[in-house]
Amino acid sequence: MKPEFVIRNSWYVAGLSAEFPKETLSGHVIAKRPIVMWRTKEGEVVAHDDRCAHKRFPLSKGRLMPDGTLECAYHGLRYNSAGRCVAIPSQPDGPIPSQARVGSFPVKEQDGLVWIWPGDPAGAVTRLPPRLPEVGDEGYESIVVGPMKVPANYVLLVENLLDITHFYPLHDGNIGDEANSRIPAEIEEGEEDGNRYVMSIRKTSNYTQPPYLVDWFHFDDVDRHHTHCMMSPAITRVVMRNSPTGKLVPHTQAREYPGNLLPSDNERGYVLVHTHTPVDEKNHVWRVIVNCPADHMSKGDPKVSTARRVAEMFPEVAGEDLWALEQQQGMFEYPDEDYSEVFLKPDLALRRARKIFADLQREEEAGAKAHAAE
Ligand code: FES
Ligand SMILES: [Fe+2]
Repeated sequence: MKPEFVIRNSWYVAGLSAEFPKETLSGHVIAKRPIVMWRTKEGEVVAHDDRCAHKRFPLSKGRLMPDGTLECAYHGLRYNSAGRCVAIPSQPDGPIPSQARVGSFPVKEQDGLVWIWPGDPAGAVTRLPPRLPEVGDEGYESIVVGPMKVPANYVLLVENLLDITHFYPLHDGNIGDEANSRIPAEIEEGEEDGNRYVMSIRKTSNYTQPPYLVDWFHFDDVDRHHTHCMMSPAITRVVMRNSPTGKLVPHTQAREYPGNLLPSDNERGYVLVHTHTPVDEKNHVWRVIVNCPADHMSKGDPKVSTARRVAEMFPEVAGEDLWALEQQQGMFEYPDEDYSEVFLKPDLALRRARKIFADLQREEEAGAKAHAAE
């Protein structure tokens, strides 16, 4: 299967709430749709087609007026926050054609993030953005790495995150080693908030941590519980818990949330929230939100918190992944003649993720056909 598509019927992260200050226009391309977004005076984030209904000029290049309307920079059509044209300078006495409006996209703000649904709005009520309670939780320090522009289909990043046997050799010497690749993975699958998820779970004991993990989490030899969960096409959430050998508290819930994460001084780790927002078939935007208990300090620099230390050192690791994804994407340019892909045991989660994407794609195509026939 070539990753040559994007799913539109999903909530995606447009940015952090802090990236949307009041009355500031921003232009985005999400799932191949040009989108203008802004936070109104009243505090609500709105999203519309970025093409002016008059002559397609990008509305994100316009300006917000004191009365809250958006003025197109070309001929000055003004739109209200619902996307309806309310004034035309060249026709001050009207009429305003009823087609003088731009399409809107559903937006939600939760857990410190702004989410957008670029697909058929009917689905936006049955599928919800996955909950990420640790982002912005007072007990956690949350720091963002990115946004990073990745010149590859976003499914390649999802696959990269679900199969961490690439830690050797790609991340050898910082977060990876060969022993990590031999840790067996279990799989859990299910559905939450209308989103099908797949999670790989790697448990190991008496494992000697690679250098960066000692720097961040202190212990040299650990019992470790490590999960990677594709929660939806938008998010992969990683939880790592480390304790000195013999001290790891087993959790009964596979989905780990604050409250049952990192319960004691004997346990250190992080929640990494990876957001992967497709631009088009060959590009996406990647953010890594690093979340660590707010009072945890790093070993590498005891004056620096663990979250900050991880965020400072993570770009080196992400740079290795970026390089790999770009290389891999380049090879998809060639036709598959005489080429077949090999699947290994640790590829199981990745295969399940592909199945979810393929099912979503089929559903979406069937929905589009049904609409066209109406
Ligand atoms: S293109 Fe926007 S007003 Fe003409
Ligand atoms: Fe990686």
